[in-house]
Amino acid sequence: MAKTKTSFFCQNCGAQYAKWLGQCNSCNEWNTIVEEVIRKEEKRNWKQTSSPKKANKALKINEISLNEEDRISTKNNELNRVLGGGLVKGSMLLLGGEPGIGKSTLLLQIALTIPKRVLYVSGEESQSQIKMRAERLQIKNTNSLILTETNTQHIFRAIEEVQPEVVVIDSIQTLHTDFIEASPGSISQIRETTAELIKFAKETATPVLLIGHITKDGNIAGPKILEHMVDVVLQFEGDRNHTYRILRANKNRFGSTAELGIYEMQNIGLREVNNPSEILISQKEEALSGTAIAATLEGMRPLMIEVQALVSTAVYGTPQRSATCYDTKRLNMLLAVLEKRAGFRLGAKDVFLNIAGGIKVDDPAIDLAVISAILSSNEDEAIPQDYCFAAEIGLAGEVRPVNRVEQRILEAEKLGFHKIFISKFNKISNASFAIKVVKVTKVEDVFANLFS
Ligand code: TYD
Ligand code: MG
Repeated sequence: MAKTKTSFFCQNCGAQYAKWLGQCNSCNEWNTIVEEVIRKEEKRNWKQTSSPKKANKALKINEISLNEEDRISTKNNELNRVLGGGLVKGSMLLLGGEPGIGKSTLLLQIALTIPKRVLYVSGEESQSQIKMRAERLQIKNTNSLILTETNTQHIFRAIEEVQPEVVVIDSIQTLHTDFIEASPGSISQIRETTAELIKFAKETATPVLLIGHITKDGNIAGPKILEHMVDVVLQFEGDRNHTYRILRANKNRFGSTAELGIYEMQNIGLREVNNPSEILISQKEEALSGTAIAATLEGMRPLMIEVQALVSTAVYGTPQRSATCYDTKRLNMLLAVLEKRAGFRLGAKDVFLNIAGGIKVDDPAIDLAVISAILSSNEDEAIPQDYCFAAEIGLAGEVRPVNRVEQRILEAEKLGFHKIFISKFNKISNASFAIKVVKVTKVEDVFANLFS
């Protein structure tokens, strides 16, 4: 019988202590240290029967062979794009997101469509619940196997039996290993079960896809070290009240973190959105005041987004400024610029801003569209529907250049816009666009161009 051992872990950062403390020395949080029972294991291996492996040999970089086969395409273009081409063999992926955002749906969909033998392990739902979800997704599949299990030793036994080419685990917080006695979801369990799975992934070159819960401040629940251990961290986000979902890479050892995938949650599962610009712009009969289209870039991908503003006389003493899917501080900054640099009296007005489709963008090139939408609402004069904007606004009221402006212009042209406003300081090498490119330097120029 192994000796029982306990240790103290910070539930916030995962730091380990020999005794209890009121404040964690590593992250300075109070009351986060909890005692967890761990048991010293005699042997810790994903495969208890595995023979002693011979040690790895050091190789020169040009001696290491690399084959293109190393990536598995997931048959899901949006996911492939975010991963940088597909799942890398032996890699460990962690997918985080709010409850109910669609993590289980996404990975079940992948598990059922990828042309590989997948073992989908769920510690959250029963087999019949998963079957119900699969029926809803309407995917025919005879290759993948569903297992409901939370004990990693049992999971490894099933893996040896099934010999899967891809393993999906829903979720890491439900797993527990025999070697540790702490309860599932505790820091030490998460760390140990992840370590076991990583060992399995690396030794057998099988990709493992993990679902991770997030805490109320949006981080993945468990020790920070979890994110260091895995190769790829993906974040699934979106507004629960909107149907669009965005998949972002927060970390990717095998690709860029600038890419993003867009999905739409339908009643038959997640649909890939390949032409986001077309759906993010609301269809209208006639031009309405207070809307402007921004030519933004998310990652490598151009995205036309509709900005809606409403400026009205404040009813209460303090004017309200509120923004949905846009940084309120940035909105206040732009309003101050309009007030101070361009002389628009907005100090006594309520300003509401909304990004259509509920997609949060942090591309500064949206600034010019925000300002134009505000001015349009303030003047109660519509901006023609075939105009769009791509520029950042500086504190001096200057219109600043943005990166990859040609890509934005081309997207606008492709979608049938006739005029795009950019900064005068943006260099364009290829000057033959069908769309009219208007170059401006100051906020006043834009105003003069639009409403005079
Ligand atoms: P789920 O994948 O269970 O979320 P998570 O694993 O991130 O907690 O997704 C749940 C939500 O998605 C649920 O509220 C219902 C909705 N949904 C659809 O709208 N259509 C579908 O086809 C499916 C399967 C779920
Ligand atoms: Mg789930």
